[in-house]
Amino acid sequence: MEDLAEQHEHLGRAVTRIIADFAASLDSRPVATRAQPSDLETIFAEELPENGIAVDEILDRFTGEVAAHAMGVPSPRYYGQFNPTPLPIGVWADALSSALNQNAGAWRNGPTSAMIEARVMRWLCNLLGYGPRSFGTLASGGSEANLIALKCARDKSHAEVIHQGVRAAPADLVVYASEQSHYSVVKSADILGLGREGVRKIPTDDRFHVQTDLLRAEIARDRKAGRIPCCVVGVAGATSTGVIDPLPELATIARENNCWFHVDAAYGGALAFSAQHRSKLKGIEEADSIIFDPHKWLFVPFACGAVLVRDGASVLREAFDISPEYLSEDRGGADIEYDFFRYGQMGTRRFNSLKVWMALKFMGRRGYEEIIERQIGLTHYLASRLDEMSGFERLGEVETAVCCFKFLPETARNGTVEDQDRLQQRLQQQIERSGEAWITTTILGGRRAMRVNINSFLTERRHVDDLLELLKRESDKLIGEKGKGGKG
Ligand SMILES: Cc1ncc(COP(=O)(O)O)c(C=O)c1O
Repeated sequence: MEDLAEQHEHLGRAVTRIIADFAASLDSRPVATRAQPSDLETIFAEELPENGIAVDEILDRFTGEVAAHAMGVPSPRYYGQFNPTPLPIGVWADALSSALNQNAGAWRNGPTSAMIEARVMRWLCNLLGYGPRSFGTLASGGSEANLIALKCARDKSHAEVIHQGVRAAPADLVVYASEQSHYSVVKSADILGLGREGVRKIPTDDRFHVQTDLLRAEIARDRKAGRIPCCVVGVAGATSTGVIDPLPELATIARENNCWFHVDAAYGGALAFSAQHRSKLKGIEEADSIIFDPHKWLFVPFACGAVLVRDGASVLREAFDISPEYLSEDRGGADIEYDFFRYGQMGTRRFNSLKVWMALKFMGRRGYEEIIERQIGLTHYLASRLDEMSGFERLGEVETAVCCFKFLPETARNGTVEDQDRLQQRLQQQIERSGEAWITTTILGGRRAMRVNINSFLTERRHVDDLLELLKRESDKLIGEKGKGGKG
């Protein structure tokens, strides 16, 4: 085997070529593969090799088979979930972080990683309007970050819960969140022993914001029944619609009811970078906890979430710190507070702060501001063009870079709602099969709708024009089928 430095040199050059070629082809390669699971099962059905294989052969397999059938998440024509084109500096920061292989759990195993994580968290806290006491920790993503925040909320509700579990609480604890909140809120309640039914899904208005009068009524009902309202969750950038709940009012309701106030800004937190859109987050600074995912609108490669708490590191430490003997606190020095394993559920942790730190330094606030404002502008453009297209009906409002709509041609208007739902799915599938773009569907108001998120910093107006053309072309085909007696 070559020595370590030679291996890195060889691999580094070869991988750089692959990544650069991939980047150059992004605009023209199909966004989604046509392969079915069985096709890929066949490709990868092989035994564990007895002897090692040369790296060039492995890299050929990567290019020809792995990358060839990968989802085109980094494409400017990918309009799916909040999955970004990763910033090159983030991609290469990941390589650097792997090379150093710091264990970012304990200070001693990653002194610079701990210091950079603390610094990055300070930047994010300041950006979102938190004061100097605030603190944060990185997590694997928004789901884990929500779990960490809700654990803090649960533990604050009653002193003994952390030791004895929820049976120590005098009554059932209840969490309140919009029906548009991410499913990880319910998952977290389940994991934390509150049960999935411990989450009240509050209906939204026709613009998909949580209805605060219904929230108040639900809390009153629970109180009357002897249950304990524990946490109010506000969403800043809902998964399906990108809209932002009325945070100041939610903060008041939480305060009046002695509840923890948590804001899920996994996606929308990035609005804080924009002077033009920052005010949409008003009220977020009142939250006891906030989550914000660098791997969504900050274009940091997966996986990287963050949870921030207003009242200081002790909030997270009280919920998570356990000192095993081998990481004993009793070692003197000022390093204990930089043991990030004390602030969340992970033990061994990746040096993830490096890619966030490098991305933030590379972009600066203004770099993010420019892209975020451009993407929201493009989304408004898409929305206004859809408003002019017959057969399309927009849903809700554009508050971030998400636009929802339905394809409802004249021929489908009198059909059943199930037929209308199927039509959305068929249009989505046709667009997927075309390979020219990728969009998703979601459920809004109980019915299927189309959803577009402009989340690649590579997306330009010409891509949006192409998407509109594609929607027109594929929807015309569906209308044609219907005209010929096809099923709608
Ligand atoms: C609003 C919101 N919160 C939380 C999450 C969960 O984040 P992750 O997928 O990183 O776990 C998502 C994911 O899309 C989301 O949209």
